This record gives sequence, C-alpha cells and structure tokens, in this order.
Amino acid sequence: MGFDMTTAFRSDLPAPSGAWAAPPRFSFVGGHNDGDSIPFTGLAEAAVTAIRRDGRRLATYNLGGSPLGHQPLRDFIAGSLSTRAGLNCDLDEILVVSGSLQALDLVNAAMLTPGDVVLIEEATYGGMLSRLEAAGVEPIGIALDDHGLRIDHLDSVLDDLAARSIKPRYLYTIPTVQNPTGTVLPRERRQQLLDLARRYELPIFEDDCYADLTWGCDRPPSIRSLDDASGQVIYCGSFSKTIGPALRVGYLVADPPVIRQLLALKTDAGTGAIEQLALAEYAPSHFDAHVDALMAALQAKCDAMIDALRTEFGSSVDVRAPEGGIYVWVTFPEGIDTTSLVPAAAAAGVEYNPGAAWSVDDDYGARRLRLCFGHLDLDTIRAGVAALAEVFRAETDLPIGTSQ
Ligand SMILES: Cc1ncc(COP(=O)(O)O)c(C=O)c1O
Repeated sequence: MGFDMTTAFRSDLPAPSGAWAAPPRFSFVGGHNDGDSIPFTGLAEAAVTAIRRDGRRLATYNLGGSPLGHQPLRDFIAGSLSTRAGLNCDLDEILVVSGSLQALDLVNAAMLTPGDVVLIEEATYGGMLSRLEAAGVEPIGIALDDHGLRIDHLDSVLDDLAARSIKPRYLYTIPTVQNPTGTVLPRERRQQLLDLARRYELPIFEDDCYADLTWGCDRPPSIRSLDDASGQVIYCGSFSKTIGPALRVGYLVADPPVIRQLLALKTDAGTGAIEQLALAEYAPSHFDAHVDALMAALQAKCDAMIDALRTEFGSSVDVRAPEGGIYVWVTFPEGIDTTSLVPAAAAAGVEYNPGAAWSVDDDYGARRLRLCFGHLDLDTIRAGVAALAEVFRAETDLPIGTSQ
C-alpha cells in the first residue's frame, strides 16, 4: 500500500488542479495572444546577443545586480511608461515581477487581512476575484458603464462605508481596456477618482496590463501619473499582452518605500533573467513597431468576432466593441444563465468564460460571458461563434435566426 502524501497536506487548501487537457477547437477562454504576431526571430536574436554578452552574470542571483530587476529592462519600462502612459518614474520606483499576477499577489500580501473590504469593478479579472476570495476579504462591486467605473456609485459606496466606519483597503481598477468589458476610463473620471480617493484616504491599485493595446480611443494618462506626488496609486503592467504571457514578466510601479516593502515579500529570488535580458535587448528598438503590428492583427480579429456575434445572434444579445485588448464581453437578456450552458458548449467544442466568474455578484454575471479572440485565426473565430450560437439556439429560448 503506497503512502498517501495528500493526507499530510493542510486541510484548508484549494481543490487540486485538474489534469491538463488540450483545449477544444473553439477555445475562447483565457488571455492568450496572437501566435502569428509573436516576434520570435527578433526575440531569439536579442536573447543570443544578450546571453553572449552577459551570460557569465547568470552565475549570480539577479544577474549580480539590483533585486528590483535587470536595470536595462527597468530603463526601457521607465521610458515606455513616460511616452505611453504619461507616467514618469525613477528606477527605484519600478520592480520587475513574474507576470502581473505576482504584482497582485505582492500587493494583496502587503495589504489584506481576512475580513477586510476592498472595492472593485463589478465585472473584473477573475484571477483577482479568486485571490480576494482566498484572502478572505469582501469585495464590493462598483458599477460600470460604457466609460468604465461610475464615479457617482463609488462616491455613494464610500459614503455608505464611511457612515459605518468601514475603510476599504484599496480600490482595484483596470481603467484602460477594462477586463472584461473593454472600456477606457476617460481622463476626467480619473481625476474625479483621485479626488475621491484623497477625500476618503483610499489607496488605488491600477492594473494597466492591456493599456498598450488601446485602439478605440486615445489612451488617457495613467491614474498614477495624475496623482501629483500623493503616492496614493500603486501601478502594475505586463509584457504578457504585448509580447506573450508565457514570458512571465510584469512590473510594479510605486513609491520607493512601497516598492521596498513589496520586494521583501517577493521570495522567488528574482524574475527569470533570460526573459529580462532578451526583453531589454529587444524592446528599445522594436517594441513600438511590434505593438502597432500586433494591434492591427488584434483589431482585425476583434472586428471578425463582433461581426460574427451580430450576424449569428442578431439583436438578441448586447455586444459592445471593446476599445482594445483581446476580449469581447457579451450580455444576454434576463433569464439566460451562461454558467449552466458551459457543458452543452463543451460538448459542441466551445469554451468560454461565464460571466459569473468575472463578476463580483453572480446574478450580475449570470447572463454575461467573455470571449477571447487573441489567439484564434479569423476563420476559427467565425466558426466558433457560429457553434456558440447553435448551442444557444438549442438550449435556450433566445430568438436566434438559423445559421447560414
Ligand atoms: C487584468 C489582469 N491583470 C493581470 C493579469 C495577469 O497577467 P500576467 O500575470 O500574465 O501579467 C491578467 C491576465 O489575463 C489580467 O487580465
């Protein structure tokens, strides 16, 4: 009889991960990027150049340099943030992290205690919602409209909490190409948000990982850049959406005392050095042109998906074109429950993210779903949306016309 190691585990662990299975034909889940746009030749050349030059430094943790990350990469991030996000920062305000997921983990580890309250967009990144649940904190959803966070609703929630002497630990927001809704918070609202945050002493955690992929409007300055020196905003970004998520390179930007505290919680002895070396070599002369080409490819996929959804589902669904990024957020009429349709969709080879997993309130998310178009080619997007419509036609009373 073998020893059952799992009996030695703590009793409060999450359910074990399922075995990995290849994705179905029409997999609209996750936050993947366009394989054809990955600049692998440029990255390979950059990696070879950098490793030939700096390879001996792999002998030491952090390449023998700052634990905040490879300095040439932080130089690039600082320059890019200044140009693209209007955010000027010193190198000691930038911490390179292992994907922006690690940024979420570090901020949560530093700020959250079970029983805390945090404010968050009513539809938001599922990976953050699961983290908040694991941290034992209560997320309060702030209403969204076509321009992102509704400041009037945030104001009334803050007012109500203050009346009950409850101080939220932070507001988490994805202001630029919001996940999942694809909206961009206009500059005036960013300013109003900061005014409220100051009034209520509310820290803001700004997750800007899609901001480089804004094509539907001009990208407003980051919230942190508008925060004249009050230090109330922690900012994070990522190369996952602009280069590729398998790289696992992101960054945090905050005031130096905050960065140093977060660094003390970063116990992985440094983010992968070869990725940092390659990016630092590649990005200064190639990043901007690469992102322009990537956006053109993503926009074509987005258009194909929106077109297919409108053709297949007609006026029975509300499809909002995102301002950029890799997702379309679809809203069905009352009574539809996208979670309960997951098995029927899977049987048809279609996978999507049901809205409930991307929403603070299950009822709000029940009639919504998120589709990622980043990694699929145009024909697969069209065929997948048609297959999805078939599922809804068979399983619901939605008035969907017959597919061509
Ligand atoms: C809003 C948001 N934040 C963070 C992440 C994590 O990204 P990564 O860790 O790959 O940088 C994602 C991934 O989809 C996301 O959508």
